[in-house]
Amino acid sequence: MALCKICFQDVEKGILVPGHGEASGTVHEECLAAEALKVAEDSQKEGLLRYLVEYEEKHAPNDWARDVSGQSTDVCWEWTDVTIPATKIRSLLNAGLVSIVFSTNSSTYYSLVGRTAIKEALGKTEQLLAAPAAKLDIPDDLFDCIIGYDDIKDEIKFTLRDGREGHYLLIGPPATAKSLFLMEVARLGGTYQAAGSRVSGAGLTDAFFSYQPRILLLDEIDKIPMDATAVLLSVMESGDVLETKYKRHRGLKLKLTVFAAGNSDKTVPPELLSRFDTKLYFSAYSFEEFVSVCQGYLSRYESVPEPIAEYVGVQTWQHLDRDVRTARGITRRLRESSREDVDRVVGFLRKYQKRQSVSGRSNSCGSQESSDQNH
Ligand SMILES: Nc1ncnc2c1ncn2[C@@H]1O[C@H](COP(=O)(O)OP(=O)(O)OP(=O)(O)O)[C@@H](O)[C@H]1O
Ligand SMILES: [Mg+2]
Repeated sequence: MALCKICFQDVEKGILVPGHGEASGTVHEECLAAEALKVAEDSQKEGLLRYLVEYEEKHAPNDWARDVSGQSTDVCWEWTDVTIPATKIRSLLNAGLVSIVFSTNSSTYYSLVGRTAIKEALGKTEQLLAAPAAKLDIPDDLFDCIIGYDDIKDEIKFTLRDGREGHYLLIGPPATAKSLFLMEVARLGGTYQAAGSRVSGAGLTDAFFSYQPRILLLDEIDKIPMDATAVLLSVMESGDVLETKYKRHRGLKLKLTVFAAGNSDKTVPPELLSRFDTKLYFSAYSFEEFVSVCQGYLSRYESVPEPIAEYVGVQTWQHLDRDVRTARGITRRLRESSREDVDRVVGFLRKYQKRQSVSGRSNSCGSQESSDQNH
């Protein structure tokens, strides 16, 4: 296995460094891109790189260059061709972005290393400089599917429409529409969705570099691992995303708004919690709210008549676990839209619902008093 000529670590599949008769080595694409970004921090050198990319694109392919380099490049040039003093080219040579293909006493032929990768890296810096501060188009019906929470809907819409900075945290018991809020925001452009239980620091960083999102939607924040927390701490405070790969660094500045949700903030590190400037703690629904949510949600999205949806809500509240998902489950078990059928399903679920253990063993006769759980 070859060593990368920039970081001197193993490289399996990299970019060839043009040489005389054959490639003179290999580099990781990431190392090359990182080096190009570093050089491009100096605007003069960035201009020089862009100019050389353009020059090579105009003059490639060149058969002589291909032959002399053993196909390791398709174009090469002397300083007199590009009319850039050799001293200026040397800094790119030192950075590993330019390579010497052929050299005699009187002339030296150079070629860029990985022209396409360099061009791509420079393209990214362009995008970064032009970081969008644009206001978002908010669909008129955003959040319409959520019943209640009018003040929260209004506040979030204002934040989004006005392009205000800020991070929202929604914490509350199950089935109180937290994820529904995130799903609605996901309808806007420039969002990236992640789940705390599946995200990693590297995955999040990669996503930031690849998609440069304006909004991060992070569900299950209570399950987020430490390495992802570190990434969030930086991007939420200063917009900085930093990556170290093969001992090389690259950076990105994002204007990011984070919307996160979870059941509890107990496992969220305090410094991360503090970065959410708008923390909203949802309460469990009251009886009236619960019935109203069931009535609206089940009639609209589960196609049951409103009076039946309302009845399902009341029954779920009075006899079962007061969870909207349970109410939804009841409507999905209905064989007809009638109160009697709702009673049948509720009776069935009550028979098999989880019970407090009294004796610590199940009653084999099917009595529901002492069994811990009938399934
Ligand atoms: N206020 C509401 N308006 C409309 N639907 C609701 C409302 N509250 C709950 N629901 C419905 O209940 C179900 C669960 O909602 P959601 O997934 O948003 O809950 P959650 O708060 O994220 O719960 P969890 O903490 O378990 O993830 C969804 O089908 C959703 O449509
Ligand atoms: Mg949820």
